[in-house]
Amino acid sequence: MKQLYLDHAATSWPKPEAVKTAMLRALEQSGNPGRSGHRLSLDAARFIHKARHTVSKFFNATSSTQIVFTLNATDALNMAIKGLVKAGDHVITTCLEHNSVLRPLFALQKAGQIELTVLELQDGTVQPEQFAQAMQPHTALVAMTHASNVTGAVIDVATVSQICQERGVKLLVDASQTAGVLPIDVQALDLAVMACSGHKSLLGPQGTGVLYVRPDIELAFWREGGTGSISHEVYQPAFMPDRMEAGTPNTIGIAGLGAGVEFLQQVGLETISQGEKALAARLRQGLRQIKGLTVYGPESGVGVVSVNLEGFDSAELSVRLERDYGILTRPGLHCAPLAHQAIGTYPHGTTRISVGYSTTEDEVDAVIEALSELAKAK
Ligand code: ALA
Repeated sequence: MKQLYLDHAATSWPKPEAVKTAMLRALEQSGNPGRSGHRLSLDAARFIHKARHTVSKFFNATSSTQIVFTLNATDALNMAIKGLVKAGDHVITTCLEHNSVLRPLFALQKAGQIELTVLELQDGTVQPEQFAQAMQPHTALVAMTHASNVTGAVIDVATVSQICQERGVKLLVDASQTAGVLPIDVQALDLAVMACSGHKSLLGPQGTGVLYVRPDIELAFWREGGTGSISHEVYQPAFMPDRMEAGTPNTIGIAGLGAGVEFLQQVGLETISQGEKALAARLRQGLRQIKGLTVYGPESGVGVVSVNLEGFDSAELSVRLERDYGILTRPGLHCAPLAHQAIGTYPHGTTRISVGYSTTEDEVDAVIEALSELAKAK
């Protein structure tokens, strides 16, 4: 049976050949970057420098020094949230967030450090006016996902950014489900900070993430250690990106991430974006015709779709899709409990189908067909 991968929202698979090639090259040719003057150390530093430049251009950052390489989006989001908030701040977030945003924020709220407002779902997403209405004089930060990892619902980040700019509030965007799918210009959107996974639609390997920090933002850091720079000092360097990057980096993974982003640039983000939009629309439309199948979320959004089929638990449905049809999906709560509460699927969750750069129309049709058959058989 042919395997059909529809779990791109968890991680993209397979990775482009260029990513594997770049990683193998870096594996064979890397010393410890920035730690020595020998050939292999310099080569490793070049791999990282090139990837940082590529990622910086991709998001239109003012300088590649504003790009920090992290372990994953959770790492980047923790660095951002804990580096931005101060005692007594009011923070606005949304019910669509992943636990990588919710858990740091709720922990800060529980510790009495911040006041937190969680915006509810309105017409399938969170509306910019809700952010405006929730603003208070001491609001310091808006932390929002660009798109839900449960329903694919997109939040209008450009309008939220205008609202934040008018009130002098910093905007942190979790772009884990949109980086490499929707165009993101960090300068045009005036994002204070943006965090995303490297291993999802940026097509890099697991163990990579990206944190963009606007030049005027001084993130407080809590990880300190060797950077290969100003080694005579016993204090962490204040300059970027060393400020946020202590310890030997994931040179091989970062080289792969750079190659993933170069691949996106070669194919063209517009082409990828239009392709995924068409696949997502085809998937939603086809699924909505199936009797007994509930499709959650708005009419349109990125290619992440949650469903439940009458008579099946979400985990059971995922198992049947794999066992009977070779289709790989993700069931459950997707680390986004409030999103599931908002759409009425808590605590059982949904079966999530998510498309990516390598998904074809035939694959989308195959999952629609499989779910139609399972619905009829029940
Ligand atoms: N955050 C990833 C997901 O949504 C793992 O599946």
